[in-house]
Amino acid sequence: MKKTVSIILALALAAIAAPTVVRADEGMWLPSLISSRIADMQAKGFRLSAEDIYCVNQASLKDAVLMFGGGCSGEMVSEQGLVLTNHHCGYYHIGRHSGVGHDYLRDGFWALRREDELPCQGLTVSFLERMDDVTALILKDVSDDTPEAQRDSIVKARSKALAEEAVGGRNGLRASVEPLWYGNQYFIFVYKTYRDVRLVGAPPSSIGKFGGDTDNWMWPRHTGDFSIFRVYAGADNEPADYSPDNKPFKPKKFFEINAKGLNEGDFTFIYGNPGSTREHITGEAVRWIGEVSDPAKIEIRDRRLSIIKSYMAQSQELRIKFSSKAASVSNAWKKWQGESLGIKRMNTVESKKAYEKAFSEWALGTTYEGVVESIDSLLIIQEPYDFAKSYYQEAVSQVEIAAFAAKFDGGKAAKMSPEEYKKTVESFFGSWYKPIDKDCFVSSMQLFSDNVPEDFKPEYFKQQMSKFGTVEAWAEDIFEASVFANKDALLALEPQAAAEAAKTDPAATYVREMARWYAKSIHPVWNSCEKQVKLLMRKYVRGKMEKDPDARFYPDANLTLRVAYGHVKGYSPSDGIYYYPVSTLKGVIEKDNPEIFDYDIPQSLRDMYEESVKADPAGVGIGNTPVCILADNHTSGGNSGSPVIDADGRLVGINFDRVWEGTMSDIVFDPDYCRNISIDIRYLLFVVDKIGNASTLLDEMTIVY
Ligand code: ARG
Ligand code: ASP
Repeated sequence: MKKTVSIILALALAAIAAPTVVRADEGMWLPSLISSRIADMQAKGFRLSAEDIYCVNQASLKDAVLMFGGGCSGEMVSEQGLVLTNHHCGYYHIGRHSGVGHDYLRDGFWALRREDELPCQGLTVSFLERMDDVTALILKDVSDDTPEAQRDSIVKARSKALAEEAVGGRNGLRASVEPLWYGNQYFIFVYKTYRDVRLVGAPPSSIGKFGGDTDNWMWPRHTGDFSIFRVYAGADNEPADYSPDNKPFKPKKFFEINAKGLNEGDFTFIYGNPGSTREHITGEAVRWIGEVSDPAKIEIRDRRLSIIKSYMAQSQELRIKFSSKAASVSNAWKKWQGESLGIKRMNTVESKKAYEKAFSEWALGTTYEGVVESIDSLLIIQEPYDFAKSYYQEAVSQVEIAAFAAKFDGGKAAKMSPEEYKKTVESFFGSWYKPIDKDCFVSSMQLFSDNVPEDFKPEYFKQQMSKFGTVEAWAEDIFEASVFANKDALLALEPQAAAEAAKTDPAATYVREMARWYAKSIHPVWNSCEKQVKLLMRKYVRGKMEKDPDARFYPDANLTLRVAYGHVKGYSPSDGIYYYPVSTLKGVIEKDNPEIFDYDIPQSLRDMYEESVKADPAGVGIGNTPVCILADNHTSGGNSGSPVIDADGRLVGINFDRVWEGTMSDIVFDPDYCRNISIDIRYLLFVVDKIGNASTLLDEMTIVY
């Protein structure tokens, strides 16, 4: 009896100690239609209005949100054009400005004066001017009976005309009409693009990439993943090509910064550009991804990664040379693992199939009858081609020498000037490392040989295998006999002669024959199925909305601006563990290890921490500085750099990642596991001030302490 009481008591205490429970919020909403969600947002803590989020008649938060480059998000934080985004979004440009004696990736970069800022060639930021539903214009007089080819050309022509009309030849404007719901609806998006963007600040990678691939897609996280840029405009504040005379761009709106921070349970929302999600695909499509396609791609990358990593472990030089390559191979590799496991954990295949069964029954006698069945029978045809496609993309096409040889094939080299030819050759050999490429070729082709079904293999592949006997022997031919593996031999050739050599060279032949196989035998069937499935998906999604008009539907992400809202919230990755949603500098210090590259923090940070602890014998010194936060906002690739916004519209963080246990959110959202990871804005303030000694940059921000 006593024991029972104490168990009950213990459980009750545990319940009190358990973190606040808030309902998680799935969805990526169109900002112009946010009024349909605003009551829910407000009920959950948001204190502003729909017009504060999106308005075309006056400045709204949308005017402070931007597309950074081609695939990241960012936000304005000052009246003088200051932009925040992630370190991994600015990485390429930080690297481009680095050189011997000034390694900004390693050491960081801080421009304290305007004239020290570095122009970033090719980098743009785009602001959404407006978005409008143009379905009625695009689909006028188009009906279900309109033949698809005709519908397609009507949609294309009208989209082009509408976009041209919206832009009207005006400087910096760009417009596109995008399908939503597989083409049941069309929206026009009009952007203004600024093209003079300069690098202002970046922490050293030991902060901006702290944790590296080890911590990528993981919590607890301690990455200071931010960088700072400035947008410049002409004297009229309009987009202009780079000129030293340009002025800092004055945005219609910029974010105030909330330096008080958030606590678990507080409302947040993310405003940015998620790239691509597929929430409506059928159970069969999910089965294919989770059970076959993801595992196949993971296996190919597994091998490639372990080869790259084993070479990286051999020398500092190779580690530096291949860290960026390894990061890009590892990023999707880890994400797919979470996706595949998440799909299994959630029984997504079964629950989708159960829904589809009910849908099919409902659809009997309607225009939607048999639509799911038709989709699935096309998927069954497409699947083996999709498998071959994955092998083509992940194994065949990753052979670097082959991609290089392809540049000279088909007479292309003959058109190169001698300078261009020399530059192409030298740039390849500057970054190529034969042993890695050769080992990767062997591993990839061995997997190709073992796993691609016999009747899908190209004749060329079979011939090579019977000619050489083993993949290793074949590799000798490609990597030792090819002129494209020999820099000196190649430089001794005239461009014309290289083009001639490509006709019979083993590396050039490999890439030519494999590409021909893919183009002739794989892509046509794959593509024809894909097109037909998309058409049927248009019907299916429309049927879903008709069947359940009150369900919470949101259109799949397509790199257009979206709002996702939720709360700061931890999660339980497995039994007995609860992850709190805030990490601090104490955790950076706990992970710090000069012996481990990913965890080797700057000495200045180490010293600063130690001094702060000495000066604060009862406390932890600067150890309480917040570093990252976790929330249940629905995000995707492309949301990196997005502002994390509080209930009053102020900036509290910059989004940069998700937890790997929740990466199936591109297909299905699980409120228990799907979390986005952001840098707490207070860590940015700390790093800029204490590591960058660049507090002048903070002076131009509006910070509410
Ligand atoms: N996982 C994040 C996103 O998909 C961050 C990637 C960059 N970081 C890395 N260690 N690879 O893009
Ligand atoms: N890290 C991703 C990005 O770069 C964000 C995500 O996939 O959650 O956009």
